[in-house]
Amino acid sequence: MTRYYFDHNATTPIAPAVREAVVHALDEAWANPSSIHQDGQRARRMMEEARLRIATMLGCAPKEVVLTSGGTEADNLAILGAVHADPRPARHVVTTAVEHPAVLEACAQLEREGVAITYLQPDRQGRIDADIFRRQLRPTTVLASVMHANNETGAVQDVAALAAIAREAGVLFHSDGVQAAGKLPLALASTAISLYSISAHKLNAPKGCGALYVRQGVTLAPMLHGGRQERSRRAGTESVTLAIALGAAAQLERPDLTTLRDRLEQGILARVADAHVNAAAVAPPAQHHQHPLRRHLRRSPRHRARPARLCRLHRRGLLLGFRRAFARVARHGPLP
Ligand SMILES: Cc1ncc(COP(=O)(O)O)c(C=O)c1O
Repeated sequence: MTRYYFDHNATTPIAPAVREAVVHALDEAWANPSSIHQDGQRARRMMEEARLRIATMLGCAPKEVVLTSGGTEADNLAILGAVHADPRPARHVVTTAVEHPAVLEACAQLEREGVAITYLQPDRQGRIDADIFRRQLRPTTVLASVMHANNETGAVQDVAALAAIAREAGVLFHSDGVQAAGKLPLALASTAISLYSISAHKLNAPKGCGALYVRQGVTLAPMLHGGRQERSRRAGTESVTLAIALGAAAQLERPDLTTLRDRLEQGILARVADAHVNAAAVAPPAQHHQHPLRRHLRRSPRHRARPARLCRLHRRGLLLGFRRAFARVARHGPLP
């Protein structure tokens, strides 16, 4: 039976070039990259080459790339690290109600510590309005965190514009780019984004590795206490093999899937009653941020996906994901 995998937002298969890089790394880069002997230095060299590839994909300097254990750690380090590094007694964070739990739960932790958090609501297209964003920034705001592409609706935020507003107000800007990296063009150095998270397993590399872009000059309080790896921003012997895998993934040629996606979307819309595109595009395709990734189709609430129904499709070779996107919008309530 032919199997069709439609759950790339959950994880992606390993690319052959990444697999090759992993096997090579297991043989050649097994030593501790902090060791001064030849084997250690070879591991260090290979890891730094990988860091350069990651930096090239992100459009930043290699020293601005901190290797982490994945997107969750990158998000936590950005949010907790930035707020904990700010000594002011009253601190405030702006985020959105539709972030990944890696961001929302980090914010919940800050709330327990007495930090004020504002959760912005997206509009009907899933976008965060720039004026509303601007009005929520306060003199005590340390950080704003707005995801680049939503993992459930596909809505893409104009994070460069939001980051510019944040910079004007003297506020750090973090974006969870886990679902956007490799799919949307990015040149972090030419934006005002201070922190940007990515995850290897969304880029055809193995799970357990990610990276946080930390703009030069941004100070983070480390979450892990130990050695001075990653310029004292992330303690612990680096996972050299996985870093090399992420480096190889960053270099992959990624085909433009727009035509295929549009064909599939039109076919489903024509055949499936009550099918909807989440975060539908409303603007002409002048700027990519005006367009959701739109790989996210759903049926109307009357036809809610049920696990049993999905299992039947899975048995027929159609591997689909199941997520509850907008529940969180309701949970965090409207803006004050
Ligand atoms: C938008 C987003 N942020 C963060 C994460 C967490 O990344 P990881 O699984 O590498 O911890 C995910 C994973 O699904 C995600 O989709």
